[in-house]
Amino acid sequence: MKVARRSAVPPFLAMEVLRTANERASAGERILHLEIGQPSTPAPRAVIEAAKRALDTHQLGYTESLGIPELRQRIALHYRDMYGLAVDAQRVVVTTGSSGGFLLAFLSAFDAGDRVALVAPGYPAYRNILLALGIEPIDLPGGPENRFQPTVELLESVSPRPDGLIVASPSNPAGTMLAPADFERLVRYCQERAIRLVSDEIYHGITYGTPVRSAAAHDGGAIVINSFSKYFSMTGWRLGWMVLPEDLLRPVECLAQNLFIAPPTLPQLAALAVFDCRAELEANVARYRRNRDLLLDELPKAGFDRMAPADGAFYLFADVTRLTNDSVAFCQRMLVDTGVAATPGVDFDPGRGHRFLRFSFAGSTEEVAEAARRLIAWRR
Ligand SMILES: Cc1ncc(COP(=O)(O)O)c(C=O)c1O
Repeated sequence: MKVARRSAVPPFLAMEVLRTANERASAGERILHLEIGQPSTPAPRAVIEAAKRALDTHQLGYTESLGIPELRQRIALHYRDMYGLAVDAQRVVVTTGSSGGFLLAFLSAFDAGDRVALVAPGYPAYRNILLALGIEPIDLPGGPENRFQPTVELLESVSPRPDGLIVASPSNPAGTMLAPADFERLVRYCQERAIRLVSDEIYHGITYGTPVRSAAAHDGGAIVINSFSKYFSMTGWRLGWMVLPEDLLRPVECLAQNLFIAPPTLPQLAALAVFDCRAELEANVARYRRNRDLLLDELPKAGFDRMAPADGAFYLFADVTRLTNDSVAFCQRMLVDTGVAATPGVDFDPGRGHRFLRFSFAGSTEEVAEAARRLIAWRR
């Protein structure tokens, strides 16, 4: 029988590292998980309580395809509170994680054969979802010189002009951010040339000083994607949202009705409580900041001395050119020798990723400190 060519997307190598890590953990070894890109905390207490109440009292049937009106309203208010922006709740669409948002965004904004620019290294699913939909990803070379972020100059070098651009500030895997003026410049450039901007704002809230800008501040056709998975610490609840331009609202509604019927009901009801959990969420961010500072001090002692210092998110992307030319083999050896798991850079950049690996510092400070100690001892 035929298997569709478009299903031939690359595997996620982080998962292969995770498998080895889990095998070693089952054999009794203490593995330090610096490969995992998710908060190490559960959802805030009030969210769990709200979910319990909903289980007891709610029918939990389908909701409206674009999400329950109360949650769309509450998300719109979040734009007022966090960015000082007035966002119409009608433009907010609740999705099954930001992952569900990408599928709806790409299907509604691009046709098969269209070309969408994005920086490599970047979050692997962007490229793989585009490929599965027959959309061509156009790699913009990211590096320390552009802080792993797209620039107007890089976009200008793409010919013919792309149909879309994906931006993530803070980025995964580098944690770098666009300065506000550079972000505005990119948004305007795309707006003026009818390049559909997709702004992945999933790491907003987890930043260490650089001011964030949301593409929701502009009504020039940009799609904003966000999620409850990172700052809000609700990863497995599979809930995200988009802020859409007017022209995509009806197409996305029809796609959502057919692809998903609706986002999951229980997480939507519970998520209403998360916006009032600031103290808990900010304590997580304070821990990420401590972990980041600790790794920036300690990792150079283990030979990992070339890293963008992460303006946000919970990742450090280390250039390991001086240590290996095969980051997959290096990560496996490091795991076997030290019990520290990290993600090989090839997941994020199939071309140049063999020279990089990603450390996640979303775990406990004790775990991150122990990982640093083991790596320093290993490299001595
Ligand atoms: C940059 C980025 N975007 C999107 C996602 C997907 O998140 P979710 O589907 O849980 O919202 C991730 C997950 O790691 C990510 O790092």
